[in-house]
Amino acid sequence: MKAGSNESSKKLVSGWALAVWLLLPLVVLVVLKTDCLPQVTVRQLFAQFSFTQPAGDGSVNKVPSSGTENATQQEAVGVARLKAAHDPVVGAPPPTALSNETAAGGADANGDLKNQTELLAMNGERDGFGVNSDVAAPRSRLSCNFSFYRMNICTMEGDVRTHGKAGTVYVVSASDDSYRPENGTVTIRPYPRKWEKPTMQLAREVTIRSSGPGAADTAPPRCTVTHDVPAVVFSTGGYSSNFFHAVTDIVIPLYNTAREYDGRVQLVVTDYSRKWIAKYRHVLAALSAYPVIDFDADNDVRCFPKVHVGIESHKELGINPVLSHRGYTLMDFRDFLRSAYSLKRAWSTPVNRTTGGRPRLVMLLRRHSRALTNEAEAVAAAAEVGFEVVAAGPEAVRDMAHFAEVVNSCDVMVGVHGAGLTNMVFLPHNGTAMQIIPWGEMKWPCWSIFGETVPDMGLRYVEYEATAEETTLKDVYPRDHPVFTNPVSIHKQGFDQLWKIFLDGQNVTLDINRFRGFMQQIYQDVTVT
Ligand SMILES: *[C@@H]1O[C@H](CO)[C@@H](O)[C@H](O)[C@H]1NC(C)=O
Ligand SMILES: *[C@@H]1O[C@H](CO)[C@@H](O)[C@H](O)[C@H]1NC(C)=O
Ligand SMILES: *[C@@H]1O[C@H](CO)[C@@H](O)[C@H](O)[C@H]1NC(C)=O
Ligand SMILES: *[C@@H]1O[C@H](CO)[C@@H](O)[C@H](O)[C@H]1NC(C)=O
Ligand SMILES: *[C@@H]1O[C@H](CO)[C@@H](O)[C@H](O)[C@H]1NC(C)=O
Ligand SMILES: *[C@@H]1O[C@H](CO)[C@@H](O)[C@H](O)[C@H]1NC(C)=O
Ligand SMILES: *[C@@H]1O[C@H](CO)[C@@H](O)[C@H](O)[C@H]1NC(C)=O
Ligand SMILES: *[C@@H]1O[C@H](CO)[C@@H](O)[C@H](O)[C@H]1NC(C)=O
Repeated sequence: MKAGSNESSKKLVSGWALAVWLLLPLVVLVVLKTDCLPQVTVRQLFAQFSFTQPAGDGSVNKVPSSGTENATQQEAVGVARLKAAHDPVVGAPPPTALSNETAAGGADANGDLKNQTELLAMNGERDGFGVNSDVAAPRSRLSCNFSFYRMNICTMEGDVRTHGKAGTVYVVSASDDSYRPENGTVTIRPYPRKWEKPTMQLAREVTIRSSGPGAADTAPPRCTVTHDVPAVVFSTGGYSSNFFHAVTDIVIPLYNTAREYDGRVQLVVTDYSRKWIAKYRHVLAALSAYPVIDFDADNDVRCFPKVHVGIESHKELGINPVLSHRGYTLMDFRDFLRSAYSLKRAWSTPVNRTTGGRPRLVMLLRRHSRALTNEAEAVAAAAEVGFEVVAAGPEAVRDMAHFAEVVNSCDVMVGVHGAGLTNMVFLPHNGTAMQIIPWGEMKWPCWSIFGETVPDMGLRYVEYEATAEETTLKDVYPRDHPVFTNPVSIHKQGFDQLWKIFLDGQNVTLDINRFRGFMQQIYQDVTVT
């Protein structure tokens, strides 16, 4: 197929982009198997356009920035996941092909348990079940849904016991209407990236064993610890070391699942990463009043009145209020984060130019790839236009809480496509996020990852697509090379080529006049006279 008109080549782009993204898991698998790259690199390379920033190389031109030059948190810079990944039309097999929503006894055989909302509503009526006895009277309910595209999830209540070391959750004496003998044992990898098989291998499998009324078949172990709050079991495996993935795969889904308990919930982590737990401690402490339990190392048998295995993910870096049974929005999530990190500014309000106010702009500066070769000029141009600029290189990234404050103190964030842009979650409402898209027909995938979600965040989105004149690829390839004449043909060669050339293989030299124009426009939009 040849790209003809502009229009048909656009279509082709999308087609290929989709195809490429859909192939990602395979590519990851191959690389994992060959074991020729460290995990992080594999993730960076293939599962997303992500990569982890190496330490700063010292060549940064820091800009005086009102004492916040420590700035950044681009750490796991990288990113990218594609729309294909979450758009059921392109990515998801038809739900019926995936499974059987009643498979684990989720829906009621008698038809009186229509959905999870209803199940949860019943919670209050289910008091009074002893958790320590092995009595046979039905007293538990089990509701699983294996039909979601992004995750498998089970909610159990009544007499539920966990034995972390064994990786097992026991549902004792499930009621008739929620129990299927043939599904007495189900397994879940509690990481919401189900469509990426290789990623899922990085998350431990949790086994849920349920017994029916009167059944002694599972012989559940006796409780050694009894909790009076629900538990949420999730994994910090997967791609969690990447900032974009940490937020999209864990932090948001955890919020969706655990927030409603208002702190009275026990978080239980499989594939426990001490580093991850430390890094996201603010979020974890805001969600739960209790220290996190390391599931894999836990030899106690813990009894809970209710347990969720798996966390609820709706889309990349977003929340679908319709799917959220509490009707949460991404704005709510951002308010939650603001509170978790004690951030001061809820809103970015227009700055009065007449009184000499300067709106603040944080510029994310990457190293190694997709770096701005003329970042000093770019920073100067933004400052000249009237912004107070915070230049945020990867070197000061370590302290996430600190960088959250820096971002929150700003009205505008600017950065080349990469995980660092995930920091936009900390911008005040009505803030502006500008994504610089590298050369190579990358507009659509980049938009899918960061642009699409921006309005739901209550932010304004600005896109700056680098031209052929603005990429360092022009120092490497002649202008009649397909890299310039037909970037889509590079996409077609597979994701590794795309990565190598367009994501890992270029820096951006901004056309400063053009860039200044964008800065002026944004400045107009965030100021008044
Ligand atoms: C920058 O970070 C260092 C080390 O974390 C800290 O001591 C210093 O106070 C920070 N500077 C600013 C301006 O926040
Ligand atoms: C759903 O489960 C029932 C029994 O629980 C089984 O008969 C049916 O084949 C399953 N359907 C699918 C699509 O797996
Ligand atoms: C539930 O049981 C049915 C019938 O035995 C089986 O086809 C299905 O795969 C099971 N589902 C799960 C999630 O184990
Ligand atoms: C689920 O059940 C509740 C309570 O009966 C009802 O209000 C709600 O509309 C139902 N939701 C769906 C998606 O069916
Ligand atoms: C399970 O998930 C599917 C797909 O989102 C949804 O259509 C279905 O209603 C859910 N089933 C239950 C029992 O909640
Ligand atoms: C946020 O932006 C909207 C649209 O530009 C504007 O109407 C609203 O007044 C702004 N809110 C605040 C608090 O500045
Ligand atoms: C901006 O400040 C000037 C001078 O103090 C004042 O006259 C003007 O009303 C202010 N504009 C707005 C929109 O508040
Ligand atoms: C991009 O710039 C960095 C220095 O900031 C350099 O180390 C790297 O090799 C450059 N990459 C490309 C593809 O030009």
